[in-house]
Amino acid sequence: MTATIGIPPLASDLEFLSIVSQWDLEAPYHQWSATTLVPPTFRPAQTPRVFVVTNNKGGVGKTTTAVELAAAWAAMGLRVRLIDADPQNAAITYWLGVEYPAGLGVEERFNLRHVFLGAPVDPLRPNGPTREVSLDEATYPTRFKNLSVVPCESDLTRVEYERTGGTDNALKFALAEAREPFDVTVIDASRTMSLVTLSCLIASDEAIIPVKPGALDAQGVLSINSTIEAIQRRENPKLRVAAILTTMWEKSDLAREVEEQAAEDYPNAIVSPIRKTTKVGEAPATGQPTRLHAPRATAVADYGQVARLLLDPVRTS
Ligand SMILES: Nc1ncnc2c1ncn2[C@@H]1O[C@H](COP(=O)(O)OP(=O)(O)O)[C@@H](O)[C@H]1O
Ligand SMILES: [Mg+2]
Repeated sequence: MTATIGIPPLASDLEFLSIVSQWDLEAPYHQWSATTLVPPTFRPAQTPRVFVVTNNKGGVGKTTTAVELAAAWAAMGLRVRLIDADPQNAAITYWLGVEYPAGLGVEERFNLRHVFLGAPVDPLRPNGPTREVSLDEATYPTRFKNLSVVPCESDLTRVEYERTGGTDNALKFALAEAREPFDVTVIDASRTMSLVTLSCLIASDEAIIPVKPGALDAQGVLSINSTIEAIQRRENPKLRVAAILTTMWEKSDLAREVEEQAAEDYPNAIVSPIRKTTKVGEAPATGQPTRLHAPRATAVADYGQVARLLLDPVRTS
């Protein structure tokens, strides 16, 4: 097994975004710059906490956000469980890699599907009797200190038609029954509103919404809003939208409009840009978070700052 790689703290001389408690909507365009909005009503969360990164659009930076926040929290010394819940890409599983125990056969490896559907009692008899699989059994270390992953494969979609009822609450119960002492759980949810995605939203305390500024988002509410509202109304009243992150951020009227709209829709949430950095796109191929691949990248500073703001450092450091 590869030696565990510690994720170091960020250099203090990075160019962090300034933090404001309110937008200056009157500022002319040339004076306006990227800032992180932390409204006075925002309260950081305390551990243990479950975050879901969600948006019903693809390519908005969900996986990147899940990995970089998880890496930032792991660097703060928090024990992080990262759940890959997007069967379309299984991106986290391939990005960070999973360290299976030596000698464990491929058929004995668990992933998120097994948490929902169970596994054969005898791995060599796939059609034999099945048993339940706990979240802890499906959680494996990565090469990175404090960072563990619940992998997923494309067959996670089998949950949609194979599970007989109770899928909505399955992840919530699995988390409640888990015994491994993780401080933070981060779920990378699929853009598809599947039963698994619903289960992720029901299991979570906090939602992080990455948004890639687009014309429609600026005109009206973000398209994820109605989903979040429905979940809060029906299944998970305690789900809080903690942050809206404008990813791949570049200065533009559109970015500004989307940020203003986000602040209006979620007046108690952090709204922060994550600056566009080509290094982010390179990181998955290097098998490590951008934070290790390019520790001085602007997006790394932005994710680091948001990670610190989201959790109460007094309780968690
Ligand atoms: N801040 C950023 N700067 C530059 N590229 C980014 C940034 N955030 C995300 N990307 C790129 O955008 C693409 C989509 O991101 P990804 O996290 O896979 O989105 P999703 O999980 O929502 O589909 C990826 O190629 C990723 O590298
Ligand atoms: Mg993704």
